[in-house]
Amino acid sequence: MSQTLQAIRGMNDILPPEAERWEAFEELVRDWLFSYGYRPIRMPLVEPTPLFARAIGAVTDIVEKEMYSFTDALNGEALTLRPEGTASCVRAVLQHNLLYDGPKRLWYMGPMFRHERPQKGRYRQFHQVGVEALGLAGPDIDAEQILMCARLWDDLGLHGITLEINSLGQPEERARHRADLIGYLEKHFDALDDDGKRRLHTNPLRILDTKNPAMQALVEAAPKLIDYLGEDSLKHFEGVQQLLKDAGLPYRINPRLVRGLDYYNLTVFEWVTDRLGAQGTVCAGGRYDGLIEQLGGKRAPACGFALGIERLMALLEAEGELPASPAPDVYVVHQGEGAVRLAFRAAEALRDVGCAVLTHMGGGSFKSQMKRADASGAQLAVLIGEDEVQKNEVSLKPLRVAIEQWRVPIANLAEAVSDWLYGRDEAVNED
Ligand code: HAM
Repeated sequence: MSQTLQAIRGMNDILPPEAERWEAFEELVRDWLFSYGYRPIRMPLVEPTPLFARAIGAVTDIVEKEMYSFTDALNGEALTLRPEGTASCVRAVLQHNLLYDGPKRLWYMGPMFRHERPQKGRYRQFHQVGVEALGLAGPDIDAEQILMCARLWDDLGLHGITLEINSLGQPEERARHRADLIGYLEKHFDALDDDGKRRLHTNPLRILDTKNPAMQALVEAAPKLIDYLGEDSLKHFEGVQQLLKDAGLPYRINPRLVRGLDYYNLTVFEWVTDRLGAQGTVCAGGRYDGLIEQLGGKRAPACGFALGIERLMALLEAEGELPASPAPDVYVVHQGEGAVRLAFRAAEALRDVGCAVLTHMGGGSFKSQMKRADASGAQLAVLIGEDEVQKNEVSLKPLRVAIEQWRVPIANLAEAVSDWLYGRDEAVNED
């Protein structure tokens, strides 16, 4: 026998009931985004490779070593499975001139692909909800995006996700800091690890983000970007903080928060938890005022963030409040000559009035079908045997309360079931 094929490492199937929890999460997320005025956008999963090199930065981990890139066999085009959504979103906004009539608040949700070493919370295909506000320059939108995250954690019943913020200033300010930082790191060249040595002249800011314990003291004492920020940058950062304070939202300034993508300036933020082990960042983003121009558009400010759905689902599993998997309202049990035809009629008549119906298939005794009905979680079973077929009736049997079954003509089925299912809710509500 040939071996069964397996999914690619780091790319996961999401099975029921987990997939149902994802759907409940997605529904809640849609309501949340709507309540802040964000509108959906859908971009392709595959984009021209140069888009990501230009947007994310040629000397980033993502572009250097994590992209799923390939050549289109038909036309030789260099293509990449999107590692993130911001570049695609900005490309789409420019391609369709969406900013012609003012700022836009957009969101997207879907799979992203990064060739990272898989571990808990880190996958090669993972899912993000991305949120982008384009055309808005003030600190108010940065603060609103941060506050909207806080509201989502609250809506989901998640606690213990903490906020870290930083300001990366403007490119000129970063350039002065960078020159001093390189000077400092050169003086300590022997203390740098291989990654550090490699990045010294290409991306020294990323050295500050090292996880290597041996380098912590060195990066701690390095020149801090915040000390290089000019008046406008500081004012913007203070503006964000003021609105967070007004809202009573606690935060920590983390001067070493630099992000792994090059398009950011001014505000950057991450929401982190210590409950997921090493992969504790559940949501991250910031301002990217230069990206639109960098991708060929007229200069326009922007900011956004993305949350990692797998990581949030793992947190929700442990402590959140998502509804249990939905059960059908009715399970249709049938046996004997002609019963399947009446079962189909009954099921469709019930769906006409909005019931969720599972019709038994695959035969079996009444007893074994009733076991299935019970396991389905349905409130009510519709029973159809030969006697019911002859009389054009069905029997109704409540599955969750001890009530004797009763019969109704097929013509009255929908009304009888609605009365029983929803009439009971009303009776309960009236009490
Ligand atoms: P990012 O920090 O690369 O930012 O990713 C955002 C979030 O996606 C992370 O905080 C994490 O929760 C999740 N994530 C990233 N990589 C993985 C992975 N390999 N496995 C599981 N989850 C992962 C961005 O992608 C930016 N586009 C965010 C943004 C939007 N900035 C502005 N607008």
